[in-house]
Amino acid sequence: MTTYALVGGDIVDCDGRRRADVVVDQATGRLTEAAPDAADERLDVTGCIVSPGFVDLHVHLRQPGNEAAETIETGSRAAALGGYTAVVAMPNTNPCMDTAAVVTEVLAHGSRALCEIKPSAAITVGRLGETLAPMGELVDLGVRMFTDDGTGVQDDQLMRRALEYAASLDPGDGTSLVLSQHCEVNALSQGGVMNEGRWSAELGLPGQPAEAEELMVMRDIALSRLTGMRVHLQHLSTAGSVEMVRAAKAAGHPVTAEATPHHFTLTDGCCASYDPVFKVHPPLRTEADVAAVKAGLADGTIDAIATDHAPHTPDSKELPFDQAPPGMLGLETALALALTELPDIELVDLIRLLSIRPADIAGLADRHGRPVRPGEPANICVFDPDRRWTVDRTGLASLALNTPFHGRGVRGMVRHTFFDGEPVVIDGKATR
Ligand code: DOR
Repeated sequence: MTTYALVGGDIVDCDGRRRADVVVDQATGRLTEAAPDAADERLDVTGCIVSPGFVDLHVHLRQPGNEAAETIETGSRAAALGGYTAVVAMPNTNPCMDTAAVVTEVLAHGSRALCEIKPSAAITVGRLGETLAPMGELVDLGVRMFTDDGTGVQDDQLMRRALEYAASLDPGDGTSLVLSQHCEVNALSQGGVMNEGRWSAELGLPGQPAEAEELMVMRDIALSRLTGMRVHLQHLSTAGSVEMVRAAKAAGHPVTAEATPHHFTLTDGCCASYDPVFKVHPPLRTEADVAAVKAGLADGTIDAIATDHAPHTPDSKELPFDQAPPGMLGLETALALALTELPDIELVDLIRLLSIRPADIAGLADRHGRPVRPGEPANICVFDPDRRWTVDRTGLASLALNTPFHGRGVRGMVRHTFFDGEPVVIDGKATR
């Protein structure tokens, strides 16, 4: 067990930005008061930012069921390399995370991972939208987020019942439950493989209208008002969705929202290549939508940047556009895309979007997204905000290759990540 001094950097956390050295004590898993000169290892982090580790509210780890695409171990390595110290695992595994047995299995694998694995669980059995999952026993295992992600709960009454059921459950540890929704009305999106608009018409591909997302955003805001229960809206992609969340927050409704890096960087015009790497749900939208998502991130309407990291095997992603599964990698490029594409957002606000708010939404605020100061859990990330690099899909730790950013020049690189005091990434390399 070693102590590490991070010398010469600037801390950015909930208290703002300041020049200070930091000492990590691996034995206690905490930051310590000890003098940097007395530490066993000294890391020169001049020019770097030391921040709370990032928290991703939306990650597909594919285990159990599709370990050829990703495992909890490989996904957690990708996360650590991206600066994440905690990720919320989505339940669309096979079998689905809707029982204590599957959640227990994920937690067991997660206990050996390079970051904290926080399982979410399905709202409905099998994510089929028919009967409610046994939320009570899943809460007892530590689940705080419920979602049928990959699909939205279509039945209005069932969603109302889910919110009421969740409202009746008290985790008893000061955290609260949240129902997280993939907003998509299937009746409107069915058959669509990209955004419905000028490009889908030109390319001859069936589209999903913005309204397929917006109708469910509208309904869930109404249901949060009706039940008083928190709803978190996943991967917002349209200007209309952002505007509705802005109005709901102004009216005091308990809604939160996330947006992905691909929805603030790419447009439906990318699909002109017919390359399935650009196929994702919700689909890439228009330039006006991208601008609205960026504005929502800038003014706090959108609480968190979440990656929707969705690994797929090369075989499946090489199918024709209409047959390939939707989804893109995200963990190893999120910070750099945020720094590159959101230059007007102050670093302190970026850390709020990547760490502080998502830690709170996920029920992890006792150990992630914390101030960087002595006594706090050593879940921290050190990154060089100015370092330029080019995304190379063959160099990623994820088992999959489906990043739409291959070959893109970006700014901002993770140097070190400490998880529970352990140096899981040093000089941009995973230590195990
Ligand atoms: O593009 C997507 N891929 N959107 C989802 O909601 C699910 C995800 C997946 O699991 O591949």
